[in-house]
Amino acid sequence: MAADIWHDEAAGTWLLQGRSTGYAFGLAGDGTALRHLHWGPGLPAEVPAALLAAAGEDPPRWERYRTGARELPDEYVPWGGLRFDEPSLKAEYADGTRSTEWAIAAQRLTRQGATVTLELDFTDSAYGLTATLFYRVYDGFDVIERWAVLRQAGGQPVVIRQAHSANWWLPDRTGWRLRYLHGGWGAETRVAQTTLGPGKLILESRRGTTSHQFNPWFTLDPGGEATEEGGEVWSGALAWSGSWKLIYEMTSAAHLHACGGWNDFDWAQRLLPGDGLVLPSFAGLYTDAGFGAASREWHAWARAHVIGRGDRTGLAEPRWRTAAAPPVSCAPSSSAGPGPGEPGPGPRLRPVLYNSWEATSFAVTEAGQERLAERAARIGVELFVVDDGWFRGRNNDRAGLGDWTVDEAKFPRGLAPLIEHVNGLGMSFGLWIEPEMVNRDSDLYRAHPDWVYHFANRTRTEHRNQLVLNLARPDVADWVFRQVDRLLADNNIAFIKWDMNRPFTEPGWPAEAGHNPERIWVDHVRNLYAIMDALRAAHPGVEFESCSGGGGRADLGILGRAEQIWTSDNTDAWDRVTIQEGFSQVFPPQVMMAWVTDSPNWWTERRVSLRFRFHVAMAGALGVGGDLNRWTEREMTEAAELIAAYKLIRPVVQRGRLYRLASVTADPYGANEYLSDDGTQAVILAWWGPSSCSGGRPPLRLAALDPGARYADADSGQEYWGAELLHEGLRLPGAFRGDFGSALVRLARRRSVVSGA
Ligand code: DGJ
Repeated sequence: MAADIWHDEAAGTWLLQGRSTGYAFGLAGDGTALRHLHWGPGLPAEVPAALLAAAGEDPPRWERYRTGARELPDEYVPWGGLRFDEPSLKAEYADGTRSTEWAIAAQRLTRQGATVTLELDFTDSAYGLTATLFYRVYDGFDVIERWAVLRQAGGQPVVIRQAHSANWWLPDRTGWRLRYLHGGWGAETRVAQTTLGPGKLILESRRGTTSHQFNPWFTLDPGGEATEEGGEVWSGALAWSGSWKLIYEMTSAAHLHACGGWNDFDWAQRLLPGDGLVLPSFAGLYTDAGFGAASREWHAWARAHVIGRGDRTGLAEPRWRTAAAPPVSCAPSSSAGPGPGEPGPGPRLRPVLYNSWEATSFAVTEAGQERLAERAARIGVELFVVDDGWFRGRNNDRAGLGDWTVDEAKFPRGLAPLIEHVNGLGMSFGLWIEPEMVNRDSDLYRAHPDWVYHFANRTRTEHRNQLVLNLARPDVADWVFRQVDRLLADNNIAFIKWDMNRPFTEPGWPAEAGHNPERIWVDHVRNLYAIMDALRAAHPGVEFESCSGGGGRADLGILGRAEQIWTSDNTDAWDRVTIQEGFSQVFPPQVMMAWVTDSPNWWTERRVSLRFRFHVAMAGALGVGGDLNRWTEREMTEAAELIAAYKLIRPVVQRGRLYRLASVTADPYGANEYLSDDGTQAVILAWWGPSSCSGGRPPLRLAALDPGARYADADSGQEYWGAELLHEGLRLPGAFRGDFGSALVRLARRRSVVSGA
């Protein structure tokens, strides 16, 4: 269904209509506020006016002494006046005034490609600061995307101390449950939940990157009643790869809102007259069909409108840009060229990848990598990636970062012969880099010790023996761009794994003291995005993986510049089942890079079969990361068969609809069903851990099949009724015996036999 936005001029209301979602707000206080009215199922066009009238302006007489009665659900709240809930914006003007009062000044509505975008300008007439609130809806989706652009049109500078992308109000229900992703290194994206009571819960990253600890995604469901298969769910995800902050607040008037964007901790941004600031997009969606439906909506929308689509707003204004890139305007208009809603080819299927890290660590050589490549090609790998260790001085993690030239001791003839060898074996070639970092022991640091974040008279804290380059500096951003651009221009590289292995500390820029050095938190990421966008424009065939010591940089912002994400450094297949389940809440399977590595696993020392390891990694974009030189002939043959099997299921896994049938954290096994869009192909992957005395493993009930159709197991030929698989379940081969088992079942729909069943 085509998305649309309707404006009722007489009533002063707007109604956003997605596939089946309605979202409404209207002008209040003589145009000084935008009152939230509805977020949930679709509405008839007349309803927002009635909701606005019913919302009224004055609190009931007996409520007037309560300040909470003034904390009305406004779409974007400038700090000031008699309200004490979390504001959206806090600005400080040149004369010391720190509150903002504004009124609506203009509106624009634009249809572009598959999107409709509404822009509402609110202006503070005393100081000239304008906030343009953006709302975007997408044909065929229930995702609503919001962000704001601030612009100082007045004659004095203004300092922005807090600026949220969006403020999402939830309906007045009780017992709200918040679900979110938390974790750590090697333990990313695990689902946590809590019931929200009065007060505030803050989840954030202060690390300069998205972080392993928390991810800027959430679901909220009232009464904790939603399940995987049903119930009302509101969900949000912020498109930002730096420090972020999300606040879940039940106001004193008992309204729940979820708001946030850039983290205001230690951050401030000064806007000179004429300057603009584009805040990152914050997407939200509503469904009445449970957590599974919310995930499928995120997945489909990310595939159609996020992956590889660059800046979400189309307005971003980096501090740095290449001479070749045309300037982009930060003016409050959506006419800045094709946005993410423009039609374009969907992301291509992810190739089966080999990565050298666990096999060779820093000990990479031309001959050693060629040997691995030959074995990788034999089992069906399509993309061969040389990880860390290939550049000058990089024999361990204490040296080399920053010196991005090939180590001549390891590759005396450069990378070209290895790349040609890899290409000759029928694979494309990929390379690891970590361009935002430097080791003290590097020519770069010796030449430019002031290029790293640091405070005067303070320790430069090292982590993994490295320091973070100040990418907010235009000269450093330019240098990083040129290093990677040169590598890509000089070598036939099809894929870059872009790593980032440590958080920011001492985020200072002494040379800018007194000139707003706190802006680095935002400018680092804006320049990172600009560099990656410029590299992608200059080298259109090259694809990227986002890595940050595993899954520390997984978000919708980086997905605009990366086709896939390295999910975790923990490659233990059993641990991965939990990590992957959390990852799948928001990210589609095709971006979830999963390697099959050696057994026992280096991290957990757990031993599991090759088949189990493959079946777990097949849940996303399949990779191999083991030391193939140590794999026996039998293992090589089995691996080749399993990779061939993956290639058969790959279109359904990567492009189909994901149903999480069972959760390894709650059920006797974890299981996913992937269903092709036309419903004719289903792939089932299931994994179970150690046997226990708690009982067996019951048949697995499948989802979303046609009950009146026959489905055939593509391997055994056995046929089932859809109704049988939906209600009685599928007996998983081998599920009753043993530890760490797995199953892969492919089903093909025959023909409808019972109509209307
Ligand atoms: C951290 C990554 O997550 C690993 O996969 C590997 O690339 C190492 N860095 C290399 O230093």
